[in-house]
Amino acid sequence: MKRFTSLLFIADGPAFTGAFALAAGFALVAASGFASGALAQAPAVPTPDQQVVLVTGSTSGLGRELAMRFGARGDHVIVHGRSEERGAEVVDAINAAGPGSARFYRADFASLAQVRSFAETLLADYDRLDILINNAGFGSAPDERLLTEDGHEYRFQVNYLSTFLLTHMLMQRVLDSAPSRIVNVSSGAQRPIDFDDVMIENNFSGGRAYAQSKLAQIMFTHDLAEELEGTGVVVGSLHPATYMPTGMVLRLGVTPRATIAEGADAVMQVVDSDEFESGQYFSGLRQARANAQAYDTEARARLKELSEELTGIRCRLGRCESVGG
Ligand SMILES: NC(=O)c1ccc[n+]([C@@H]2O[C@H](COP(=O)([O-])OP(=O)(O)OC[C@H]3O[C@@H](n4cnc5c(N)ncnc54)[C@H](OP(=O)(O)O)[C@@H]3O)[C@@H](O)[C@H]2O)c1
Repeated sequence: MKRFTSLLFIADGPAFTGAFALAAGFALVAASGFASGALAQAPAVPTPDQQVVLVTGSTSGLGRELAMRFGARGDHVIVHGRSEERGAEVVDAINAAGPGSARFYRADFASLAQVRSFAETLLADYDRLDILINNAGFGSAPDERLLTEDGHEYRFQVNYLSTFLLTHMLMQRVLDSAPSRIVNVSSGAQRPIDFDDVMIENNFSGGRAYAQSKLAQIMFTHDLAEELEGTGVVVGSLHPATYMPTGMVLRLGVTPRATIAEGADAVMQVVDSDEFESGQYFSGLRQARANAQAYDTEARARLKELSEELTGIRCRLGRCESVGG
């Protein structure tokens, strides 16, 4: 059993305090300046007519392609990941190609403290968020049970729980920007959550952990769709394409079957389509049915309660309160 941590931004004490947010902001902005390779140069800021788009996990693979597409159509793109080097490369490529602009923020989703810092920094830096693409993900390989800094099963936190926390913390901006959209990049690989063993201490496999986290994302999407009804915020989830040649697929060692462009086309359809209805799940370009647990309201309520307990916040329509000790 291994513990995966990144210690760049560790915050102690109660979350959501001004000092905490300020310190976090400095750390992340510094990282963004460094990452764009332009300490002397002011980071790009959106113009009033630009849409602001956050693509988590946009330092490689599908997220990189999506960030480039948003940049190419003139949006301001918030590029995110752990790799400052790859983040800087994506930001430079978007800013050089125009007409859009971009800025990089580093945050490790294996640390809930870093996710909180990331959200606080974005709330300070941006007064709108038109499109939120929750794309960051860690695949099935290695077939090893890993733990996060917070002591949770790694894929559950990186692929799902951190997205839950980030999305709720950013919700007020998304609501302020309505009509706006949230897209959760899930997968066709889905496995029901065993609520007696969510952290998969028994019969672990990387594939099981990945598939559980991907179904959790869809369950979260369904809850959000209900919560956001009538607000002008549309939320959806999808399986983008099967075995695109991205980092996680190459690490798995399987032969790619689809192109990254095909996956990006599917995500962009969910982003742009007027016919897309909030809460729908797509597989590629077509509406599909997810695993049955995604439609089980009792299971969804249990997941939501557990997620609130593990992240320490309970939110509704952008208003959050602390829960637990
Ligand atoms: N590839 C496929 O065929 C396929 C199929 C179905 C669904 N998907 C989904 O597509 C999404 C994108 O994945 P991809 O295929 O493009 O894989 P990828 O090339 O491995 O990209 C993963 C992205 O997530 C980021 N990431 C990974 N661990 C992170 C962490 N601990 N904290 C913060 N960011 C982290 C990575 O950034 P850093 O490396 O900079 O940390 C990278 O930008 C995932 O949600 C995946 O589940 C992919």
